[in-house]
Amino acid sequence: AHRLVVLVSGTGSNLAALLAAHTDPAYGARVVGVVSDRPGVGALDLAREAGVPTAVVALRDFPDRATWDRALTEAVRVFSPDTVVLAGFMKLVGAAFLGAFGGRTVNTHPALLPSFPGAHGVRDALAYGVKVSGCSVIVVDEGVDAGPIIAQDVVAVLDDDTEETLHERIKVVERRLLVDVVGRIARGGLRVEGRRAVVG
Ligand code: GAR
Repeated sequence: AHRLVVLVSGTGSNLAALLAAHTDPAYGARVVGVVSDRPGVGALDLAREAGVPTAVVALRDFPDRATWDRALTEAVRVFSPDTVVLAGFMKLVGAAFLGAFGGRTVNTHPALLPSFPGAHGVRDALAYGVKVSGCSVIVVDEGVDAGPIIAQDVVAVLDDDTEETLHERIKVVERRLLVDVVGRIARGGLRVEGRRAVVG
């Protein structure tokens, strides 16, 4: 099966969805490793419960970002991934990482890019006052949530939404989209032609 390494920083609800999907051989992809930049997060527990090996590469354990990025790259390389999935990974990957895994690293983001990139996509969309938001799965490049868009789905913003309620509704759609896209990449491949990302 197509080998997935999933990078996480937090709860791991998107990881959980991938771990639920990969038990079906027809899915075509298997999570072979989970790497976190933060120790003690829920996503690491989910991986361990699923019997998937984990690694932690924390920025604060390294003298600078470039050294951290090289360590992260090596931690991922150990698992020989076909595709790397950033699922709630809240750090920017650097040049070494993109040199190794560029073009086959995807990220999920809780807003309709190119609107509201960054660490607070849900909060920023609410603050702007948009009436629809959603989620985006993109190819990772050197920009901040700026790579070619692979797939998106929409969620209505309700008048009484808070960041938490909107994010929860987005996450329901987001995990379904991520699982679908990653499975299609595993079975059909990912091509990037300029700004255009095509799966299958
Ligand atoms: C997800 O909604 C993901 O899109 C977002 O963090 C959440 C992680 O949830 N990522 C970003 O905002 C990246 N800019 P999870 O840990 O439960 O999968």
